[in-house]
Amino acid sequence: MIRKYRAFILPVLTAVLCLALTVIVTGINAEAQNVKRVPVKPTAKDSGAEMYKVYCATCHGMDGKGNGPAAAAMKTPPTDLTVLSRNHGGKFPELKFQNVLKVSSPLAAHGSSEMPMWGPIFRSLESGSEGYVQMRIYNLMKHVEGMQVK
Ligand code: HEC
Repeated sequence: MIRKYRAFILPVLTAVLCLALTVIVTGINAEAQNVKRVPVKPTAKDSGAEMYKVYCATCHGMDGKGNGPAAAAMKTPPTDLTVLSRNHGGKFPELKFQNVLKVSSPLAAHGSSEMPMWGPIFRSLESGSEGYVQMRIYNLMKHVEGMQVK
């Protein structure tokens, strides 16, 4: 299991840091600047689990707790995605989650988000089809909703 995980960590880590580099204007750290640019890896739009593993786990961790391999390079720690419901009165914040993915994290408004903007990335994967972009975000949301602690 560990071996399998390792085999995809490096390419994914590289991809994610490059993604962060191309998407984020501010807060770029020296580490990320040395990373080679690679195109975003395609995934199945109907698999929240696959998208999560490929696009999110490097920062937020496979278990969603915010301790992925790239987390150490972040100035703001990646949010613990398993307590979103707990922090919103026991109800998963669906609208907020979708907005974060579609538009951007609230921190981005203050120029300090290290989270890539997924809307434009998904749009580029789907040649601009809003329906498919929505489908990706919805399936990711359902996957993260399934990770919530009681
Ligand atoms: C390059 C690292 C990185 C990747 C990859 C990443 N995130 Fe994040 N994410 C962060 C960081 C750091 C934060 C903390 C807030 C910020 O910096 O904007 C965050 C915050 C969040 C938040 C909470 C925002 C809030 O404050 O309410 C959600 C939800 C989220 N990420 C979902 C995802 C999902 C889903 C994916 C995969 C599609 C993903 N993230 C991929 C780094 C990342």
